[in-house]
Amino acid sequence: MTLLITGAAGFIGSNFVYHMLETHPEERLVALDKLTYAGNLDNFSALTDKQRTRFDFIKGDINDRAFLDRLFDENDFSAVLNFAAETHVDRSIHDPQVFLSTNILGTHSLLGVCKDRWYVKGRWEEGRCFLQISTDEVYGSLGPQGFFTETTPLDPHSPYSASKASADMIVKAYYDTYGMPVLITRCSNNYGSYQFPEKLIPLMIINALAHKELPVYGDGRQVRDWIHVADHCRAIEMVLTKGRPGSVYNIGGGNERENVFIVGKLIDILSDMTGDSGINPDLIRNVKDRPGHDRRYAIDANKIKNELGWEPEINFEQGLERTVRWYLDNRAWTEKVISGEYMEFYEKNYKNR
Ligand code: NAD
Ligand code: TYD
Repeated sequence: MTLLITGAAGFIGSNFVYHMLETHPEERLVALDKLTYAGNLDNFSALTDKQRTRFDFIKGDINDRAFLDRLFDENDFSAVLNFAAETHVDRSIHDPQVFLSTNILGTHSLLGVCKDRWYVKGRWEEGRCFLQISTDEVYGSLGPQGFFTETTPLDPHSPYSASKASADMIVKAYYDTYGMPVLITRCSNNYGSYQFPEKLIPLMIINALAHKELPVYGDGRQVRDWIHVADHCRAIEMVLTKGRPGSVYNIGGGNERENVFIVGKLIDILSDMTGDSGINPDLIRNVKDRPGHDRRYAIDANKIKNELGWEPEINFEQGLERTVRWYLDNRAWTEKVISGEYMEFYEKNYKNR
């Protein structure tokens, strides 16, 4: 069995590559990535020689249909897992176009090539699957009570979440119209190793280590439901192997925390681990809020628990400590990924607040 993993050189994609190679010794993986600012081949540097015999990387764009056709000529994929996306909400506010092009049209290119190859003489070939990795942000924002279920109406607010919701809709349309065997997962905020330091947790870690200000948007009382990336990867694997075609599965960690709590906790962990007294709450700076900022996300994950038997396993406090330790032990990785184009965006975004 050969799986195509798009966006594999990003945060969750690379963690999923390690997870699948460890847990499925019979699978071959083809990792596809455009290597945008967020994709990094160094994320595969911990693969063993043995794992590499079942792993191929190919640089390419999911928007490039001719490239996808050649790739499908050379490989017989049993499943496509689409992690490839532009993923940072702040960037989508500054420049939405690439979000629409990769997240919507790119997803459609993948659906198109799968349909051309897997739909033969009016029938879908056995054992094929298209799994779209989506986000809880498609549901919009919650007040202080309640949870997102799989039937919560989609109500995205940022160009990022609107592009992901659009992609979900076109994936669903391929199921409704052509009967394509598709699955959609919608997960809450991930944290863990290899996360690009534009997202809250790694950004705060690297800024604190450099004694740079920690920008908290608005009042910092927004709530996210945090999940360790390893729990997310296990959930995706279960959906891939046991999910019902045409279904959506919500995935959440059950760890609702306010942003100010996360920032305070990271300061505590980092000052303990490093003994650096310069890492303290004086670094926190309340800056102008993000436009259209969603107040609260919280996931009802009962469907995946009841149908597939998945539950998150990693305790949030321990997972956060492990994550901080990873960033402390991998300073060279961080230095490399924050050079160049990334810093330009960060400085511009920060100055505008
Ligand atoms: P990421 O930004 O770290 O990685 C995205 C990867 O996609 C990068 O390696 C990038 O180079 C690649 N890519 C971008 N455009 C491409 C294109 N046109 N063709 C091929 N590759 C391209 O993002 P992530 O956090 O790993 O997110 C992966 C997926 O999970 C995304 O679809 C995202 O919407 C979804 N998701 C993320 C979270 C989260 O908390 N990070 C939560 C729920 C869902
Ligand atoms: P982020 O990691 O960008 O994920 P998302 O917006 O997709 O949930 O942001 C998580 C929360 O942290 C969100 O409420 C915005 C907030 N935030 C800050 O307060 N400061 C920052 O510098 C960043 C990047 C995010």
